[in-house]
Amino acid sequence: SQGYFTYDPGFVSTASCDSEITYIDGDQGILLHRGYPIDQLAEHSNYLELCYLLLNGELPSAAESETFVDTIKNHTMVHEQLRNFFQGFRRDAHPMAIMCGVTGALSAFYHDSLDIDNPEHRRITAHRLIAKMPTLAAMSYKYSLGQPFIYPRNDLSYAENFLHMMFATPCEEYKVSPTLAKAMDRIFLLHADHEQNASTSTVRLAGSTGANPFACIAAGIAALWGPSHGGANEAVLNMLDEIGSVDNIDKYIKKAKDKDDPFRIMGFGHRVYKNYDPRAKVMQQTCHEVLEELGVQDDPILEMAQALEKIALEDDYFVSKRLYPNVDFYSGIILKAIGIPVEMFTVIFATGRTPGWIAHWNEMISGPYKIGRPRQLYKGYAQRDYKTIDKR
Ligand code: SDX
Repeated sequence: SQGYFTYDPGFVSTASCDSEITYIDGDQGILLHRGYPIDQLAEHSNYLELCYLLLNGELPSAAESETFVDTIKNHTMVHEQLRNFFQGFRRDAHPMAIMCGVTGALSAFYHDSLDIDNPEHRRITAHRLIAKMPTLAAMSYKYSLGQPFIYPRNDLSYAENFLHMMFATPCEEYKVSPTLAKAMDRIFLLHADHEQNASTSTVRLAGSTGANPFACIAAGIAALWGPSHGGANEAVLNMLDEIGSVDNIDKYIKKAKDKDDPFRIMGFGHRVYKNYDPRAKVMQQTCHEVLEELGVQDDPILEMAQALEKIALEDDYFVSKRLYPNVDFYSGIILKAIGIPVEMFTVIFATGRTPGWIAHWNEMISGPYKIGRPRQLYKGYAQRDYKTIDKR
C-alpha cells in the first residue's frame, strides 16, 4: 500500500548444501553420524572415536585410534602467550564471550597452518581445535574464579583431562571420578554434530569466504550462544529455577499457550525434530545413571524436569505442535550434577560441537565451493525519488 512489496510470511529462504557427515530424520527421530545411529555410538563408542569418524568418514582401526588419541593429546596445550590474552577480560565476563575472543585469536598464534588449500594444514588445524577447546574452556572457567590455569596432562583421557583442568588446583591432587568422566565424554559425544544447525551453517558460510578455520569456529561459537540454540541448556536450568517447584509447572505450561506473550519452555521443540530428539533419550538415561551413582537421584531439579516432561508430553498444545524434549533438556541437569556451573553449559556444548563444525568446514573446503550468498525476498519500498529536507 505505501509502496511496500507484500510478502508471504510463510516464505522461508533455505540455503541448502549437500553433505555426507550427518543424517537427521526429524519425523522418525533418527540421527546418524556417517551412517551410525547415535544411540549405538553413545553405547559403544567414545567422543574421540566419534571425532575421528566425523573427520575421516570411517571408524578407526585400533592402530588408527591410538595414533589419533596421541595426536590430540599432543596438541592440548595452548601457546603460553595466549594466557595473557585472558588478562584483557573482566573476571565476571561470560565464558562464552571469552571463548569467542580466544578461539578467533588462535589464528594469531597458529598461523603456520592457515593455508586452507593445503590438506595437511587443514588436518593439523582440525586436531589443534579439537585438542585445545577443552583447555581454553577450562581456562575461561579458572579465569572467572581467579584461580591459576591447570595444564593438560597426557596421562588422562580427553574427558578426564577436561574435568581435571576445570577442578584441580595446584594445592592438592584432584581425582577424576570415572563416572563423571564417562558422563562428560557422553555429553561431548551427544553434542558432536547435528547437520546444518544454525552454528554449523554459520561456520560454513564464514568458511565459504575463505576465512581461516579459527575465525570460522569463533563465528560458530557466537551463533551457538543464543538461547534458542546452544544457550538453551543454560536457559533450561534457569527456567527450572524460575518454576521453583512441581506445583508451579501447570502455570508455566499455561503461559506457553498464551498467544499474546508465549513463554518458550526451554529444552522443548526443535527446528527439525517433530519427534523425540534421539539424543534426549540417551541424555535422560545418562542423567539417571549419573544421579544414581552420585546418590542424588532425588535431585529436586531432576524431579521437576521429569514432571515437566511428563505433563508436556501429555498436553494437547505440545502434542499438537509436536514439541518434544531436545538435547538440551537433560544435559544441564547432568552438567549440574557433575559440578559444572550453569554459565559454562554452552561452553561445554561448543567444545563438544567443535569436531562437527570442523568436519563440515573441511568437507566444504576440500571440494569445489562458492561463496555463500543467501537470497532474500525484498519487502521494502519500490524505487522513489529523493526529497530535500525542506520537502519532508
Ligand atoms: C538446539 O538445529 C539444531 O540441530 C539445533 C540443535 C543442535 O544440536 O545444533 O539441535 C541444538 O538448538 C536445540 C534447540 C534448543 N532450543 C531450545 O530448547 C529453546 C526452546 N525451543 C524453542 O525456542 C524452539 O522450539 C526452537 C527455536 C528450537 C524451534 O523454534 P521454531 O522453529 O519456532 O519451532 P516450531 O516452528 O516447530 O514451533 C512450532 C510452534 C510455534 O508456534 P506457532 O508459531 O506455530 O504458533 O511451537 C511453538 C512455536 O511458537 N514452540 C514452542 C516451543 N518451541 C516452539 N512453544 C513453547 N515452548 C517451546 N519450547
